[in-house]
Amino acid sequence: MPSRLAAKVVNHEVNKAGLVDILGDTNHINTQGEEQQKLDIYAHKIFIQTLTNRNIVCGIASEEEEHFIRVNSMDKKNQNKYDVLIDPLDGSSNIDVNVSVGTIFSIYRRMTPLGTPVIEADFLQAGDQQVAAGYVIYGTSTMLVYTTGNGVNGFTLNPALGTFYLSHPNMSYPKNGSIYAINEGNYIHFPLGVKNYIKYCQMESEDRPYTSRYIGSLVSDYHRNMIKGGIYLYPETAKNPSGKLRLLYECNPMAFIAEQAGGKAINGEKRIMSIKPTSLHQRVAFYCGSRKMVEELADFILKNP
Ligand code: AHG
Ligand code: MN
Ligand code: MN
Repeated sequence: MPSRLAAKVVNHEVNKAGLVDILGDTNHINTQGEEQQKLDIYAHKIFIQTLTNRNIVCGIASEEEEHFIRVNSMDKKNQNKYDVLIDPLDGSSNIDVNVSVGTIFSIYRRMTPLGTPVIEADFLQAGDQQVAAGYVIYGTSTMLVYTTGNGVNGFTLNPALGTFYLSHPNMSYPKNGSIYAINEGNYIHFPLGVKNYIKYCQMESEDRPYTSRYIGSLVSDYHRNMIKGGIYLYPETAKNPSGKLRLLYECNPMAFIAEQAGGKAINGEKRIMSIKPTSLHQRVAFYCGSRKMVEELADFILKNP
């Protein structure tokens, strides 16, 4: 985990968000005379600060910043070889209403030689090149879910001691599930294959209709699906013609965890992790979850792309 410390600090801030005036917009001066920050900007800064202090990180790209950040990588003696990509606070629309949010991150080995400045290509690697990925969920308890390509483990924060304990070893998606999670308000704009799949989820059969659950925080919807069995869908819509979720900060790390946990993640036609990124903030359609459910959805999309 690149920065357990930052996760603990963000956890602390998220938990007291209702007590101090940290919710909502910026442009506020608090009682100490400091400018108040939205929690996602706050989380971004904390992660950047703590990751910069680590002597293994050569570069960081964050959903909250247009350009990537170099970490001492101009120094010829610098041997740091990993770059980190991060969604510091996922589910920000849920902060003001006391609903679980998260942090998502992904780690790659730089492609360019040590001691030279990192370049954009170091960040634009296909998800298959990830060396580690994880998310933190700030829920009823705070958990870190993490993979280095050898299965998935979940660690729960003991708030009294400030330590993460291995509470969920070898996490895995049930092969099949009965929960589908999608913002159905956008139904009219979905591709026909996805519309048909949703109708299929609602149709009566031995194990259907399925249950619909949508929190609106990817981390929370995903975490529930991984434990109970389900599928998460964010298709292309009129408002987001390429999909809404970001390939580098959200989809690749979640896809890596999914595959390591026996699940699947696709953009409709291919594996998320096989996509060669073309820009830092690229968005993609994202379908992820229990293997059988994703395969069934893929069939619907194949018939009606
Ligand atoms: P973020 O808060 O990092 O911008 O991400 C929000 C994402 C994701 O967490 C969530 O699943 C999705 O946006 C919800 O989008 P809609 O409100 O369009 O359903
Ligand atoms: Mn997000
Ligand atoms: Mn975010």
